[in-house]
Amino acid sequence: MENRDFPIGVFDSGIGGLTVVRQIHSLMPNESIIYLGDTARVPYGTKAPETIIRFACEDAQFLMDQKVKAIVVACNTASAWALRELERRFALPVCGVITPGAETALIVSRNKRIGVIGTTATILSQAYTYAMKDRLQKIQVYSQACPLLVPLVEEGWLMHPITLKVLEEYLTPIVIEQIDTLILGCTHYPLLKRAIQQVIPTLASQPIELIDSAESCAQHLRRRLTDLDLLTSSAQLGTITPFFTDETPNFKRISSRFLGRKLPSATRVQLREYLL
Ligand code: DGL
Repeated sequence: MENRDFPIGVFDSGIGGLTVVRQIHSLMPNESIIYLGDTARVPYGTKAPETIIRFACEDAQFLMDQKVKAIVVACNTASAWALRELERRFALPVCGVITPGAETALIVSRNKRIGVIGTTATILSQAYTYAMKDRLQKIQVYSQACPLLVPLVEEGWLMHPITLKVLEEYLTPIVIEQIDTLILGCTHYPLLKRAIQQVIPTLASQPIELIDSAESCAQHLRRRLTDLDLLTSSAQLGTITPFFTDETPNFKRISSRFLGRKLPSATRVQLREYLL
């Protein structure tokens, strides 16, 4: 088998990264994907940078062992803290979600006032801010950590009044800064698009464009694979093979919500320790 016909490896701290798999599969249906969700150790968004980097290296090593042609870091938190380290340690293309999301936001925003929401660790890293400021000095970025949103999404409370209230609380301080674009900087937030779209008009007079970093990541990946001549030659529908480090009782039902269809049968794995 040629390199280009190897699968794409995607990892996340849990099941949220299936939103990225969904976008990759819809954009490049012939590509096969191996997905690793580190469900035993989720969330990464509340952990220290060294821990996030170590976990990300273990995840990437697992995917390398499966002979993938590229690694996609679907997790915003891991992309924010570990991307450079992964690029340094693993000899294959590594794509994160931060740069693609940041670049799309810069294109979409007219007034160059951009909001970013994400986990505590992602916001602490300022990765989105740096990625945008590196490309355009004059940009104004307003960030907000939203630690309560991941558990609400995993509970399936996508339009629940409590979720709407929590969103109102988190979005108010950044919306009053007259942002016209909001980056959804977490794997789970694409599932909250409808709720966010409902809350924003109650807080802002201006329309705000939502940037789904999962969607931008899939487009970025396709460009990267094209440039490297790594797009598959297969004309058949690609497969999705999921691996998880734990299987929680609700995980099948919830996973399908992220993937947008029934999750193929998954294998439980134990990751090898990676010494930094
Ligand atoms: N996947 C994480 C992210 O996109 C959210 C869940 C977690 O905190 O691990 O940042």
